Amino acid sequence: MALPDDSKQIGQTDVRRAARLSVAPMMDWTDRHCRYFHRLLSQKTLLYTEMVTAPALVKGGALHLLDYAPEEHPVALQLGGSDPRELAQAARLGAQAGYDEINLNVGCPSDRVQSGAFGAVLMKDPGLVADCIKAMQDSVDVAVTVKCRIGVDDQEPSEVLPDFLSRVAATGCDRFTIHARKAWLQGLSPKENRDIPPLDYDLVTEMKGLFPALHISINGGITDIGTACDLLDRGLEGVMIGRAAYHQPWDILAKVDSQIFGMDTDVPDPVSVALGMKPYIQNHLKQGGRLHQITRHMLGLFAGRPGARHWRRRLSEDGVKNGADESLIDRALDDMRMAAAV
Ligand SMILES: Cc1cc2nc3c(=O)[nH]c(=O)nc-3n(C[C@H](O)[C@H](O)[C@H](O)COP(=O)(O)O)c2cc1C
Repeated sequence: MALPDDSKQIGQTDVRRAARLSVAPMMDWTDRHCRYFHRLLSQKTLLYTEMVTAPALVKGGALHLLDYAPEEHPVALQLGGSDPRELAQAARLGAQAGYDEINLNVGCPSDRVQSGAFGAVLMKDPGLVADCIKAMQDSVDVAVTVKCRIGVDDQEPSEVLPDFLSRVAATGCDRFTIHARKAWLQGLSPKENRDIPPLDYDLVTEMKGLFPALHISINGGITDIGTACDLLDRGLEGVMIGRAAYHQPWDILAKVDSQIFGMDTDVPDPVSVALGMKPYIQNHLKQGGRLHQITRHMLGLFAGRPGARHWRRRLSEDGVKNGADESLIDRALDDMRMAAAV
């Protein structure tokens, strides 16, 4: 499949640079609408898709899961799976669709994912991960990367993490994002697994010392750009932010082009970003989509600002109504301004 003429696929060097700051893959959250919205806040940040399972693409033929807008670049596709041949085929489909990077999920602890023997449970089988990565690399030219944990269950992270990295890196894979906490596969829900196992940033930074040639991004519990800068100063190449970027998108993303990527650029104004979504929304509605599918990702745009509650409330209450269209953005902005003025 040839790439569309308007493809803005970027090279591997540029993806490595973009990974200096990335928005984490988040199921049900970082869909294409969310990514388009995030892109209006930062031109440079690397955006990840939600995890797409290799069987859904290869056996289920669910190629619509790969749809995205060219404006989203740089954008990485995250795959879930543990069958090297199937992952290779899925990676090929992703690269053909124009994704800048293909990432393998070795961090997700959900039951559904465990039953398919993929996600965090693969931390126990670095040999299989290496086989998967090798097969994916052999089938695409774009970067193939891994997002993993520091260990699972009763594993000792200081032992398993370096072993995992060295075995997977032996395939030639040189970019890893490490969620700096274990996943406990029994007894904790996926949500609890993002909060309860303690964070160990020191262990992740130590990996950079052990494997200086690897490009290592750190993830987990980072809620402000100051902390991201401190972690980059400790020698890591990248910081990945998940929940904070979703819930406070302006706070996290609006300043990164200047503060993290060193661009001489104006910080986007949140009102202009809200208004900038209107043509995208209009187009989505024309194609039969619903307003709420987009506006649900925009609720946090004014987080912490006067009147933010009114913005949220108007979007969430009216966004689901039949016939709701992009003019809701103007009404929600008016509500917010009026509330802020009193
Ligand atoms: C709603 C939600 C869905 C997630 N889905 C995925 C996923 O599909 N793939 C993945 O690797 N991690 C997933 N994660 C984990 C995040 O990518 C990230 O590792 C985790 O939230 C820790 O980062 P944070 O503290 O910055 O949020 C998800 C997290 C959330 C909150």
